[in-house]
Amino acid sequence: MSRLPALFLIAAALCLVVGTSLGIAMGIAHDFHLAPVHAHLNLVGWTTLALMGLSYRAWPQLAESRLLAPLQFFLSAGSAVAFPAGIYLSIEHEAPGLAIGAALVFFASTLLFLLRLLPLVLARQPAARMVVAE
Ligand code: HEM
Repeated sequence: MSRLPALFLIAAALCLVVGTSLGIAMGIAHDFHLAPVHAHLNLVGWTTLALMGLSYRAWPQLAESRLLAPLQFFLSAGSAVAFPAGIYLSIEHEAPGLAIGAALVFFASTLLFLLRLLPLVLARQPAARMVVAE
C-alpha cells in the first residue's frame, strides 16, 4: 500500500502541533497579531492536508501515478508550510513575496488534486455485489 496517505497525515499533524502551539502562545500572551499564521497553519496545513491524505486512503488508485501523486503531495505539503511562514514574514517584515509564491503553488496543487479526482467518476463502476448473510 502507498505511503502517501500517511505522509499527508504526518505533514498535517505537524502543522496541527505548530498551529495549536501558536494558538496557545497567543492566548497566554494576549497578543493576537499572528492569528492569520495560526489560522492558515491549521486550516491549510492540518485540515486540507488531512483531507487530501484521507482521500488518497479512500481511493488508493489516486496514489498509483508515480509522477502525479508524489508531485501533488510535495506541492501541497510544501506550500501548506511555506504559506503560513510567508504570512508571518508579511506581518512582521512587510515582505509578502513568500506568501504570494506559496499561495500560487498551493492553488496549483488544489487544481492538480481536482484533476486527479475527476477520473474517479468517469471510470466505469464495477457491478455492485450483493452480499447474502448465511
Ligand atoms: C489548542 C488549540 C487552539 C488554540 C489555543 C487556539 C487559539 C486561537 C486564538 C487565541 C485565536 C485568536 C483569536 C482572536 O484573534 O481574538 C485563534 C483564531 C483562530 N483559530 Fe485557533 N486555536 C486553536 C486551534 C485551532 C484549530 C484546530 C483551528 C482550525 C482547524 C483554528 C482556527 C482558527 C481560526 C480560523 C482563527 C481566526 C483567525 C483570524 O481571525 O485571523 N484554531 N485561535
